[in-house]
Amino acid sequence: MNHPLLTSDTMSLKGQKLLDKVKNDFIGLDTQYKTADGKHSKRIYLDTTASSLMMGIAHRASNEFLKHYANTHSLLHFSAKISTKTYNWIHSRILDFVHANPEEFTCFFMGSGVTAGMNRMAKTFQRLRPEKDIVLVSIMEHHSNDLPHRKHGGKVLHIPISNTSQNLGSIDLDIFEKYLLQFEGRINYVSITGLSNVTGIVTPINKIAKLAHKYGAYVIVDAAQMAAHVPIYMSGFEDKDMEIDALLFSGHKTYAPGSPGVIIARKSFMSAIEPEEVGGGMVDKVFPDNYFVSKKFPDREEAGTPNILGAITLGAAIHVLDSIGMERILKKDLEVTQYAVKKMQSYNDIFIYGEINNKDSMRAGTIAFNILDMDHGLVAAILNDYFNIAVRNECFCAHPYVEKMLHSTHEKEIEQLDCLDNHLNWKVEPWMGMVRASIGLYTTKEDIDILINALSSIIKNKNSLSAKYIINTDGDYQHKEFQFSSKDYFSLTATIDRDIIS
Ligand SMILES: Cc1ncc(COP(=O)(O)O)c(C=O)c1O
Repeated sequence: MNHPLLTSDTMSLKGQKLLDKVKNDFIGLDTQYKTADGKHSKRIYLDTTASSLMMGIAHRASNEFLKHYANTHSLLHFSAKISTKTYNWIHSRILDFVHANPEEFTCFFMGSGVTAGMNRMAKTFQRLRPEKDIVLVSIMEHHSNDLPHRKHGGKVLHIPISNTSQNLGSIDLDIFEKYLLQFEGRINYVSITGLSNVTGIVTPINKIAKLAHKYGAYVIVDAAQMAAHVPIYMSGFEDKDMEIDALLFSGHKTYAPGSPGVIIARKSFMSAIEPEEVGGGMVDKVFPDNYFVSKKFPDREEAGTPNILGAITLGAAIHVLDSIGMERILKKDLEVTQYAVKKMQSYNDIFIYGEINNKDSMRAGTIAFNILDMDHGLVAAILNDYFNIAVRNECFCAHPYVEKMLHSTHEKEIEQLDCLDNHLNWKVEPWMGMVRASIGLYTTKEDIDILINALSSIIKNKNSLSAKYIINTDGDYQHKEFQFSSKDYFSLTATIDRDIIS
């Protein structure tokens, strides 16, 4: 699918060539900081699971669009025509990206990510089938795919994750079916992550859908992590039960920061109830005591002026991803992830959470680990301060899951907490958590080598490095001497002042 704003030379390249070009074209790949040893070095960005870097092409395409920027919902003046047409094109491009049949599915934008969309979907599905009181989610879900269902969806039951050594951290379809059978008739929907933000393990979403549909439950997929790493097929199966009823993802995790979140859902569901949000743009006619909601999709679901620029950035990014080919992207992700896993495995002091054999459980993009006898916060701080490697640590908004996984490495500490009735006196202990390294299109094996060398050096120098840190009043590890000042690198007012003066 082509579009005038995106038919640059780059877009005429195909597959591997396009990937080779795009992977070096992200904003921030050459960002430098001064580290604790006084040297300047290039940042190694291994925090993609939290937010990916911005794709250069998407940034340039959205800047180009700004010359024509105008509100949508009009085809009158020239700029409004361009804006409206481009905005509409993006909706159909997204349906294409996730292989959702446009006859049956619609796509609309929401808030800044999956969280807003999931709250919306929980309310929608609850209103759709209020007589069904149960929602199934797995224990590995991000809080954004758990709490919205607790608050709006119904009684949430957490499906345990397989704890066999063969596929630790994967969905166990037998356990899942037992739940479906036990609560048959009461389950409104199942909401499941397509790719865990803790382990990177991929969920077989279409198998989940087939099972859920067999027992009359609908299926929502949290594709916050999946969208940028794994090809998605929402529809197009001979067996309709394998189709996904609703799927959500975020622009800030698909190389398009500043973008809204996306919901793709069945039109039949969305048209059965009045849209959750009302206002301009979604009504055909308004009278002082009455109004008529548009039957048109996506208009009826997008009240108010949308985040047009963000949507265009997102549309550009997924168009590029799809032009490279999601199969190709997955292959690269698996390769780099496995490369990292293998190297980490060679250290007895490193413990990786979740199944590490790719044949048993496919893992893309994310590795959560700990160095034994070192707090996650200390390791993450040293990686940053001494090696300029950006990782994330703590519980990644998946507290119940991380707590379960920590049993593999912190049994003694957990036992002690249990004695203290930890749920009543909840306090985050410094050992509670993991370090997470996560990769994107721009991550190279050289980046992984730098990470591994850094981890090796930390393991060798555990004591001397630990001695350089204290835990501050916020509970964070802080270097005793080295200080980083944000404004040395970026100040909004200084940037504006420079622009005004020039
Ligand atoms: C699996 C998963 N679901 C949901 C979310 C929430 O997404 P957002 O921050 O776009 O609302 C995240 C964010 O990290 C995530 O990793």
